[in-house]
Amino acid sequence: MTQSPLYSRIIGTGSAVPPDCVTNQELAGRLAARGIETSDEWIATRTGIRQRYFAAPEAMTSDLALTASKNALRAADIDLQSIDLIIIATSTPDFVLPSTACALQRKLGLRNHCIAFDLQAACTGFVYALTIADQFIRARACQTALVVGAEIFSRLLDFNDRSTCVLFGDGAGAVVLQASEQAGVISSALHADGRHTDILCAPGRVSGGAICGQAFVTMDGQAVFKLAVHLLEKVALEALDKARMSAAQIDWLIPHQANIRIMQGTCRKLGLPLERMLVTVDQHGNTSSASIPLALDEAVRDGRIARGHTIMIEGVGGGLTWGAAVIRF
Ligand code: ACO
Repeated sequence: MTQSPLYSRIIGTGSAVPPDCVTNQELAGRLAARGIETSDEWIATRTGIRQRYFAAPEAMTSDLALTASKNALRAADIDLQSIDLIIIATSTPDFVLPSTACALQRKLGLRNHCIAFDLQAACTGFVYALTIADQFIRARACQTALVVGAEIFSRLLDFNDRSTCVLFGDGAGAVVLQASEQAGVISSALHADGRHTDILCAPGRVSGGAICGQAFVTMDGQAVFKLAVHLLEKVALEALDKARMSAAQIDWLIPHQANIRIMQGTCRKLGLPLERMLVTVDQHGNTSSASIPLALDEAVRDGRIARGHTIMIEGVGGGLTWGAAVIRF
């Protein structure tokens, strides 16, 4: 007997940011105290960022993930113990081991022995995590997945390097995905090219009880910029092609919120009006794998994204990694 096609559908979204909101002006003041010059004008014009949130020193990535997950679970209105898969996309895990996903499982009070693991694909992490959870559900290996992007990226920032420390912030976003006969995740495309490892990296490692190498994030901004616009257009078209859809059928484009100029460049290349692109980079800065689910949750909660809308998520990040997915909400 043939089985009817199965989709994974987003049944709840949630997000969280830490309490310390730092405007460009405040950050410029903090950097000036170190003898480093920057300005609200420089940051806003080059990146679109106006503020970001920074976590307190004692906060853990799993704490932000917990708040975002609780919000998503409340929206989904399901029994917590029915979750049978947790994936957290993060480049800033609580520890080297165990995984942040296991910490979240414990903090949520999940005692059902479900699968839980972290995923590292830098800023593309959420697109990767959602795609993998979708594959688990379509393969009928799981029914209900909690997919999270969570970062305390400020831990990787060198506040003596103005070319990177003004760009990033902390936060978390989560979705609950559930098996459904109704369309949900329609298509996705994922890629990586390890030849570009050096242009965006934090190449520190733990060895002999100490950190060796460079623990702060470093970036060749212009190299990332050029590759990002080209790769995002290509992968967006690939995901649309797999979905047998055109860009005109997309109600909302949710790009990784790295830089407004990259985001607008991709939107224009796809021929989409800028009004159909969600922008939260002004409020959060670049929160790496958290940026897409943070933007998604904001637009779901304020009513811009409604049931039946078609959305496209897309991102590029260190690795390089890049990917896109078409989703019926
Ligand atoms: N404040 C003031 N001046 C600055 C700052 C700052 N925060 N940072 C750099 N500058 C100066 C530089 O020192 C340089 O000065 P100089 O001309 O005297 O040498 C000048 O500004 C121009 O520097 P560039 O690096 O050439 O600046 P650019 O126009 O390329 O903008 C930026 C930098 C915003 C990072 C840009 O390259 C970019 O948007 N890159 C995309 C990468 C990105 O967004 N990465 C995010 C993470 S990756 C990801 O999420 C995919």
